[in-house]
Parts: sequence; structure tokens; C-alpha cells
Amino acid sequence: MRVVIYTGKGGVGKTSIAAATGIGAAACGHTTLVISTDNAHSLGDSLGVPLGPDPTPVTPKLFGLEVDVLTELQRNWGEVHRYLLALLASQGVEEITAEEVVILPGMELITALLLLDQVAEQRRFDTVVLDTAPTADTLRLLSFPNAVEWYFDHLFGLQRRIARVARATVGRAMKTPIPPDAFFASVQKLHGRFQRVRTLLTDPRQTTVRLVVNPEKMVIAETQRAFTYLCLFGFAVELLVVNRVFPTAATSGYFANVRAEQETNLATLTELFGEIPQLPVPRYPNEVVGIPALERLERDLFGSGDPVSVRPTPSPIRFLERGGHPVIELALPYTGPDQVDLSQRGDTLFLRVGAYRRSIVLPYAFTGRTVDGANLDHGTFTIHFASRRTSKPVAHAAS
Ligand SMILES: Nc1ncnc2c1ncn2[C@@H]1O[C@H](COP(=O)(O)OP(=O)(O)OP(=O)(O)O)[C@@H](O)[C@H]1O
Ligand SMILES: [Mg+2]
Repeated sequence: MRVVIYTGKGGVGKTSIAAATGIGAAACGHTTLVISTDNAHSLGDSLGVPLGPDPTPVTPKLFGLEVDVLTELQRNWGEVHRYLLALLASQGVEEITAEEVVILPGMELITALLLLDQVAEQRRFDTVVLDTAPTADTLRLLSFPNAVEWYFDHLFGLQRRIARVARATVGRAMKTPIPPDAFFASVQKLHGRFQRVRTLLTDPRQTTVRLVVNPEKMVIAETQRAFTYLCLFGFAVELLVVNRVFPTAATSGYFANVRAEQETNLATLTELFGEIPQLPVPRYPNEVVGIPALERLERDLFGSGDPVSVRPTPSPIRFLERGGHPVIELALPYTGPDQVDLSQRGDTLFLRVGAYRRSIVLPYAFTGRTVDGANLDHGTFTIHFASRRTSKPVAHAAS
């Protein structure tokens, strides 16, 4: 399944461009689903078709869906319920309902990712286009599988061991409820689904991220940061859609300055995102609402090409060997050395860039090795490992 994720600052045109891409993909013969993961849905308004939590037909091969957190929670309630009970067991919480859980932070992330996993499993659609919420929320969504993996591995792995020991020694005499193994089986199943969706999302042959920008200073600054964090979490950024470029004819009189300002900002975009292809979209005289307007946008954006064809995009993370030493190379554009913090605990690396933190579980060839040093050069962060394996886990820090 091909997955195209559109993200960008609030109001730049993500929904319109996601909808237009869906229309174009369907016209090319792909059975396409456009999913809005933004709680403040506007995909239905853009397409002019009311949408709900199930795929709704829009054009012969195009379907739209607006994620509803409560509906998805209820659909996945068996697994999520047991996961939460296992998580809350130590606090003495014995029962919890889907309606109560909806208000917990992070539920929209869990539900959107489970929905994507389910869509991939069903194999009904060959293309999925994600229309997401503005950048910060989308980064939370995309970084969630990485964070949750750590919790599953460490929290539940650990709890499970404690539970076994406790049951063997004190059993029912203890007042603290000990989650039974059945809970863990369920938690593991959920873990498996998150792993699957992470694999799907970080495979650049299947999933790519397209950044939507406007030629405006503040938008560019936020997009640069988003690009860095997307690389940090292993997402392949394929394309920059530069929306709302004023045509020369429209920039006389009151708007005379706009074009000059945009020219400067367009040059900045080329300088900053040089290696990523950029596709411009004009600023139209009218709102882009309804199928005909979106079809026009799609033609202006992609011409007669397939709007979802995968442009070869390298993965931002590479595991290599240099002169007998294992090395990890990670693209971290626009990042200074003082913004990066790296530490190691056993076979897991923790990498913090600004406000975001990810864990990297070392692949087999790297296990048992200690970080030997790291450097940041022209937007590439290189982590060097010792050539010999150390037998026990070590703590190491470098910046
Ligand atoms: N190129 C354009 N020319 C004219 N109007 C546009 C253009 N692109 C988008 N619009 C209009 O701008 C408004 C915002 O666009 P849209 O909803 O696609 O942005 P968004 O990034 O999804 O916003 P949000 O962050 O709120 O989800 C809409 O009314 C849309 O029709
Ligand atoms: Mg939107």
C-alpha cells in the first residue's frame, strides 16, 4: 500500500492538497482512501461530500474518511482496554470504559495508527493519502510508534517479570493487583500492530511525507523544524508543495509588495530545501472547494503525471560499516551540535533534538557495541561505534 502523508503549518493548504492528490490518484486508476487525522476535520468540506468514520465513496475510485476517536476506540476496544487495564493496574484501577478513555491524552494517536494498520491489513486500497493536523500534532502522531515501542519493551517487559516473581512469592496475599498473563498477550498483540504500522510508515518505498508550505517566513521556519524532526523519526521527505504562489498578473496595486516578498522567500526555500523537489501551486482568486476546483489544483500541481508515484527518496537513517567500525548516519538538517544529545543504554540509543526524543534499538550487527564518538557535519549526524563488542550494557553520553 502506498501512503502519502501531507503535513505543514496550520492553514497552508494541507487538506486541499491531500484531497486533490486523492482525486488525481483515483483518476490514475488507484483505489484511493483519503484519511483526515485532524480532529478538526475539514476534508468533507473540501470535497463537498459529508464523510464519517467509514470509507465514503467520493468519485468512482476515491473514498474519504474522517477518523472518529470514540468509534475507533470502540472498534479496537478489546486490545486497547486490556492494554489500559494492564497500564493502570498498579494504580488499583479495575474498570474503565471507552467513553472515559476518549479524554485521555494520546488516544487520538493510538486510534489513528490502529486505523491505518487495519486499512493496510484489509488490502482494499492501494493508496492512502493522509490529511493531518498542523505540524506539532502530526509530529506527535508520527513519533508515537517509536515512543510506544520503548514503553512496551521496557514497562511491560519489566512489569511482566515483576508480576511473575510476585505471583511466585506472595501471590494473592498482596493487595496490589497483578496483571495476569492474558493482559500481556493482548498488550503484545497491540505492540505487534504498532510495530507493523511503524515499519509501513518508515519504509521510503511505501510511505513518503510531503511538506506543504507557503512562501512566507514563519511558515518556512516551522517547516524547517518539521523536516529535521521527520528525519529524526526516520520519515522520508519526498516533496515540498509550495502553495499560494501569487502570479505576477495578480500583484499590482495593493498587492505589489506581495510578489517581491514571495520572490525572496521562494529563493530561501530553494536554498534551504535544495535537494527536495518543489512543486508550486498558484494562489487562486477563489477558495479551493469542491471537486472541479480540486481537479484544477491537481492538474496545476502534478500535470498529467501520477500524483502518488514514489520519487526515489533515501531513508534519513543508514546503518553502515566503515573500516571495520559500525556507523550510523542520520540526516539532521539545520541542526547545531548544541541541539543534539546522545546517550546509550545497553543496545538502545537515545537521541534528543530540541524538544523531540527518539530511541534507536540497535540492529543485530551493532548489538553489544559502545558508542565511540559522534559528529555533526553539514546536516549529517554520524555515530561511531567501537569495533569490539562489550559484553555488558554500558552508559555513555556524547553530544
Ligand atoms: N492555492 C490556493 N488558492 C486559494 N485558496 C486556497 C489555496 N489553497 C488553499 N486555499 C484555501 O485556503 C483555506 C485553507 O486551506 P486548507 O484547509 O486546505 O488548509 P490546511 O492546511 O488544511 O488548514 P488546517 O491547518 O486548518 O487544517 C481553504 O479555504 C482553501 O480553500
Ligand atoms: Mg486541514
